[in-house]
Amino acid sequence: MNNSSNTTATNNTSKSIIVAQELARFYKSRATLVRALDGVNVWIPRGKMIAIKGSSGSGKTTLLNMIGALDKPTSGSIIVDGVDVSKIHGGSEVKYRLKKVGFVFQSYCLIPNMTAIENVILPMELLGAKGKQREAKARELLERVGIDVTRQARRPAKLSGGEQQRVAIARALANDPPIILADEPTGNLDSKTGRHIVELLRSLRQEGKTVIIATHNPDIAAKADIVMEMTDGKITENSSFN
Ligand SMILES: Nc1ncnc2c1ncn2[C@@H]1O[C@H](COP(=O)(O)OP(=O)(O)O)[C@@H](O)[C@H]1O
Ligand SMILES: [Mg+2]
Repeated sequence: MNNSSNTTATNNTSKSIIVAQELARFYKSRATLVRALDGVNVWIPRGKMIAIKGSSGSGKTTLLNMIGALDKPTSGSIIVDGVDVSKIHGGSEVKYRLKKVGFVFQSYCLIPNMTAIENVILPMELLGAKGKQREAKARELLERVGIDVTRQARRPAKLSGGEQQRVAIARALANDPPIILADEPTGNLDSKTGRHIVELLRSLRQEGKTVIIATHNPDIAAKADIVMEMTDGKITENSSFN
């Protein structure tokens, strides 16, 4: 991962799963222009855990939303696993998200009237996987993240916060995407549970996943292979410089 100030992204693009160049996202609100991303140049290698630090409002969520195609750049470019995100439109965005990225949110965002296993099956169903196969895969993933058969049949409200986040991670893995985006994934958890969740996310590197965690918790950032800091929509520090 490099910042524009001293290197160009091009040297490293072949190894990179994400390359952003002069990436900007501005929001107009009344008379003011908010520069949520203000010229981000970054490359992110495959198979690592990356922490994005920065205070509230520094642009972390906006950057994750760009990678996940939940939002589009005002200018600049972002290429994710060979896909130019600003060029995908309409229905292809949904497919892109289902295939390329798994999302993990601070508030879990599970569907409340579905059981844990149904939540994990859903993304596979949306990509047209066969019924038997998707159920078997969902069970395997839930076992893997430590959700037993009894809990698999429960709705989110009947699970603890840590269990809900485990289900969310299983759901993020359902379609085997190369990238997992976790936005403040431990923000609603006590520190011990949070550490377990971070370990679980970290373990995904073993199967080549690129795990990107936005956090303002320094303990979480310390677990990452690469740490970058955002300030006012810019990357101001990047541990992979050296
Ligand atoms: N939809 C939006 N409309 C207007 N301003 C926004 C919107 N989303 C984010 N912002 C602004 O962009 C800046 C970066 O926000 P965000 O990416 O959420 O930061 P972080 O995740 O680091 O807290 C903030 O100033 C925020 O208020
Ligand atoms: Mg945020």
